[in-house]
Parts: sequence; structure tokens; C-alpha cells
Amino acid sequence: MIVTIPMKNIPRLPKDLFDGVADDVVVVDTGNYYPQQRDGRIDPIEQGTTESRWVATQLRRPVVKAFNNIYARHLLERGKPRGASGRIALPVAGDDQRAKDVVIRLLDQIGFDGVDAGGLDESWRQQPGTPVYGTDHDAAGVRKALAEAKPARTAAFKAGEAASAGRR
Ligand SMILES: NC(=O)c1ccc[n+]([C@@H]2O[C@H](COP(=O)([O-])OP(=O)(O)OC[C@H]3O[C@@H](n4cnc5c(N)ncnc54)[C@H](OP(=O)(O)O)[C@@H]3O)[C@@H](O)[C@H]2O)c1
Repeated sequence: MIVTIPMKNIPRLPKDLFDGVADDVVVVDTGNYYPQQRDGRIDPIEQGTTESRWVATQLRRPVVKAFNNIYARHLLERGKPRGASGRIALPVAGDDQRAKDVVIRLLDQIGFDGVDAGGLDESWRQQPGTPVYGTDHDAAGVRKALAEAKPARTAAFKAGEAASAGRR
């Protein structure tokens, strides 16, 4: 299952969304937190919880973070066969290796390499503002970009006064 709605609407999803869904069904979170343009302030994320850890907590279900760093249109248009030069790679973060492997196989089937990006608490490395975000690197480039990421959110992706003011 792919959860791909604006982050601010995640808490409004039905509480029984996963009732009857088997535990081995992989849930993928594609989300990105845009406090200034769209989502408003989400305090746990501002305080350092990774976006996907917050989503997993809201959903009460483990998630794999993937697809978040590529434009949707590029997913449609830029896939290449396995082994092709310059094949775009996408980072895949999560705490369950089997679930990550399922997502990496799915990526391969639709024309992309998957790069294991560690556990969900490491997934800040692929959040908005990081070197891998929106850059369409190949696998070596993704590994380098993940290694070079800094944990602090960039100013463009922190809640500003306007975002906080909206909640008062
Ligand atoms: N667009 C991209 O290129 C891209 C790439 C990577 C990651 N992302 C991330 O993926 C997430 C979704 O992005 P998007 O561009 O697809 O957003 P979007 O176009 O604004 O919304 C996608 C869908 O979410 C549905 N939705 C919104 N609230 C809902 C709710 N409470 N319950 C059920 N469905 C709901 C909307 O359905 P209705 O129209 O029926 O309201 C809409 O079809 C965001 O976090 C975004 O940052 C986007």
C-alpha cells in the first residue's frame, strides 16, 4: 500500500484504515513535510522526529520511506532497464529489511535502482533540502548524497512564524 497524501492530512485518515490488512503488507510513505507552503507546523518533526517516523506513529503501522525524493513525472518518464547507464536510483529507508527488499524489487520492475538508506530514524538523509532530494542521481550518486546529508532541516523546510501563526 502506498500512502501519498499531503502530510497535514495524515492525522485525518480513518483510524481503522489498516484493520484486516495483513501484517506482511508493506506500507510505503512517499510524504514530505512542507511547513511553509502546505502542511503548517508539526511539532514532533520540528523537534527532530523523522517525517516517516511521525507518519508511522500516526498510522500505527510500520512504513518504508521511498519515492519521496523524485518528481512524480520522472517516475513516469525516466525509468530505464536494469543495468542501463545513468539509471536513476531512489533511497529506501525502513526498519524491516524484508519490507525494504519488496520496495527495492518494485522499483526495479518500474525502471529504477533502489538504495538501502538504513532505518527509519536515518531517513532524514532523504528528506526535503538534502543532497538526494529531487536530484535523480544514479546508485553511486545516491549513496554519496546520503553520506553527505546533514541532519538539521534547512530554513526553507522549517516552520516559520507564518506557519506557527496559523495555529494560534
Ligand atoms: N507530486 C510529486 O511529484 C511528489 C513527489 C514525491 C513526493 N511527494 C509527496 O507525496 C505526498 C503527496 O503529494 P501529491 O503531490 O500527490 O499531493 P496532492 O496532489 O496534493 O494529493 C494527492 C492526493 O491526496 C488525496 N488526499 C488528500 N487528503 C486526503 C485524505 N485525508 N484522505 C484521502 N485522500 C486524501 C487527494 O485526493 P482528493 O483530490 O480526492 O482530495 C489527492 O488525490 C506529499 O507529501 C508530497 O510532498 C510528491
